[in-house]
Amino acid sequence: MSCSAEVDLSHHLSAEARARKPNPMKEIWKLTKRRENMISLANGDPHSSLYPISQIQFEVASVDPDCDPVSTWRTAGPSAPSQVLTSTREPSSSCTLPVRTALQYTTGAGLPDAQAAVTALTRMYHQPPTHPDTGNEVERVATLTLGNGDAVTKLFRVLGEPGDHFLADEFTFSSLAGACVPQGVRWVPLRIDDGGLIPEDLDRTMSEWDERRGRKPHVLYIVPCGQNPTGSTLTVERRKRIYKLAQKHDLIIVEDDPYYFLQYSTSDSSEPTLVPSFLSFDVDGRVMRVDSFSKILAPGMRLGWITSSPFFHRHLVILTDSSTQHPHAFGQMFITELLGPHGWTLDGFGRWLSSLRAEYQRRRDFFLELFEREVVRVAPGLATPGRPQAGMFVWTRINLERHPRYRVSGTSKRGVPRTNCKELMEELFERCLDGGLVVMPASVFALPCDPQVNHLEDPIEDRMNYFRLTFAGTEEAMQQGLEILGRTLKEFFADEPAKA
Ligand SMILES: Cc1ncc(COP(=O)(O)O)c(C=O)c1O
Repeated sequence: MSCSAEVDLSHHLSAEARARKPNPMKEIWKLTKRRENMISLANGDPHSSLYPISQIQFEVASVDPDCDPVSTWRTAGPSAPSQVLTSTREPSSSCTLPVRTALQYTTGAGLPDAQAAVTALTRMYHQPPTHPDTGNEVERVATLTLGNGDAVTKLFRVLGEPGDHFLADEFTFSSLAGACVPQGVRWVPLRIDDGGLIPEDLDRTMSEWDERRGRKPHVLYIVPCGQNPTGSTLTVERRKRIYKLAQKHDLIIVEDDPYYFLQYSTSDSSEPTLVPSFLSFDVDGRVMRVDSFSKILAPGMRLGWITSSPFFHRHLVILTDSSTQHPHAFGQMFITELLGPHGWTLDGFGRWLSSLRAEYQRRRDFFLELFEREVVRVAPGLATPGRPQAGMFVWTRINLERHPRYRVSGTSKRGVPRTNCKELMEELFERCLDGGLVVMPASVFALPCDPQVNHLEDPIEDRMNYFRLTFAGTEEAMQQGLEILGRTLKEFFADEPAKA
């Protein structure tokens, strides 16, 4: 890939990232790759003849074009057609990445073959733009990770330092947002609607920033497809607007996108049009795209990748070279073989993805039909489900205004909730538990905010009347769970004590 005239974004690096020096032993190790047949008496790399593994095989579903891979795999049991991927110890005509190479140390970027495999995947779905000034395609590099949790927390370390402010949706994937709080990063919430982040709120927050609060926010964390927990997907128009605002206000965008491939079609028959990612129109190098195999292959794989400019890639590699070194070889081998010429290939992977998408869409529709039957009919008007266009979550509004003990206490004092929404939702959560149902309350996803910059006039506690429900599980779980929810809502809103 050719180079571009990119914007200098080095001022976004944290003090930690700037202070980190390349691992000197890794630098020497890299010299062994400088040319073929380099002799190394330098690093203590166990020789491949001592690995007690001669071959690794993975048996995977067939993605034959004549069948629907996911539904065949799910329903045909042990007789489901499959394909065997084999990594032999030495290079052979049947494998892309031999055991002896894969199981050796590599750099923080990951194994070059695995890097090439995910780069080809990214290229296929997120064509890098050409730079308007040079006409060159911008240069983007993949860094293998242990999944998006690992990737995002690493990025927060590379970008954030004590006293920094980061931006995110006011309800977001809090497991990761919370991770950088002990590092001294403070969160600034942005308002959202059914379509996700509201660009005008981003612009207003940045334009009205009071420097006495500290350095202007410089990182935007965003989940653009099937947002967790709200299920929203940003339209391409919003994405473009947000990208322009990122340029205007000099923001780095951390695009955490594990549900990209789970975007649903709007009609039953057609293939969905995947909304272009932020990466695909990033000419500046200010987008760090974060992808994962967790939701499209298996979460225990613990494998994903970051796509970024070479500048940020270098800093990610330096950080990884001095910590985990790189993700495990087994996952990288699996991906390399799966996507390579002896495995599914990119085309076959595309067939798997589109079949998986159809399966999740079927589950979503099943869930929403059940919701109508088991919740809306049993407890009319008390809860309203969202209809996600991607991902696996239904952000379900509990219509608390209809509860006899719902209370609005006049005008808000700064930062003090006006309603008893939070308390009622805690009570409802407990009632669901008593009924045998676990749901995710909205309070879990409230951004852990800097108290000074919370929406003081309009506290988030007054908007916590949501549950995140998932259709990722079995139909039986959905059936039983929604039955309990319908029953519990009915009793709760009638202000009846729970039935024993
Ligand atoms: C928005 C978001 N980011 C990151 C993750 C974690 O992904 P991974 O399993 O790749 O670490 C999840 C998983 O639920 C998620 O929803």
